[in-house]
Amino acid sequence: MMQVITAIEEMRRYSRNIRGEGKTLGFVPTMGYLHDGHMSLVDAARKECDIVAVSVFVNPVQFGPGEDLDRYPRDIERDRHISEEHGVDVMFIPSEEEMYPDGYSTFVEPTGVIVRGLCGLSKPGHFRGVATVVAKFLNITKPHVIYFGQKDAQQSVVIKRMVEDLNMDTEVRVMPIVREADGLAMSSRNSCLSPEERGQAPGLFRSLKRAEDLVAGGEYSADKIRTEMENMMRETPDLRIDYIEIVDAHGLMPLDRVKENTLIAVAARVGRTRLIDNIRIGKTRESEA
Ligand code: PAJ
Repeated sequence: MMQVITAIEEMRRYSRNIRGEGKTLGFVPTMGYLHDGHMSLVDAARKECDIVAVSVFVNPVQFGPGEDLDRYPRDIERDRHISEEHGVDVMFIPSEEEMYPDGYSTFVEPTGVIVRGLCGLSKPGHFRGVATVVAKFLNITKPHVIYFGQKDAQQSVVIKRMVEDLNMDTEVRVMPIVREADGLAMSSRNSCLSPEERGQAPGLFRSLKRAEDLVAGGEYSADKIRTEMENMMRETPDLRIDYIEIVDAHGLMPLDRVKENTLIAVAARVGRTRLIDNIRIGKTRESEA
């Protein structure tokens, strides 16, 4: 039977017991409205750890003013059902009041190149919110391994950096992007798309595929690749490009030329919904970010 825990102190006690029994704990933080992308992280944790914990918490501090906090999809009953089916041992569903009580004043602030571009530019404060909540989860659950998706490539880089910089005692694992049949990266936000918008959304992936083909054909100029991707995305009339960036996959430093371990990342709006996607070029190991 899957346990559902809402109180921080109870979650702390649960994971303390797991560690006391000499078992390994794998932790998957999410904002819920679970899909196969989330579940790929759960399945990896199931394989690699004795106990699997999933959190569902729509973290208000990572949403900027005017962003979609109120519209963010939620269905906790469905999340419980899916988690149970995938063999999750414990779901942690804390309340906003307990996570950020009155007087809350401490934040983890990622700085430097890793937050200067990509989503760091269009969503100021976002990664501060992400780093803060993940630091809190790590302190509450102290997992042996914490799982993230390559879908949010910059988030994975920020978290790896935080764990290293703050000497946190956990292993960060990053798993490949899970996609729909037409290439659209799975996302809770896809449920916000109207049928017409859903039809346009694979334009992001198509532009990334185009980039991949260009590189395979010997085109390494970042400018040329970016221009081709822009042209391709303009063919999808309602896709409004937020950014197309070609950066080093580890440090997120912008590149003039594609080389080993390059990350090509895009963000675009379809209607009111903002979507992101990316591919890795010349990566050295399949599941490594
Ligand atoms: P959320 O968007 O719910 O995603 C939770 C985790 O699932 C993230 O690590 C994300 O990269 C991964 N994920 C989402 N879609 C995926 C896909 N199509 N393929 C593979 N992995 C996928 O990311 C967050 O929540 C939050 O920022 C969080 C880390 C929970 C902090 O609030």
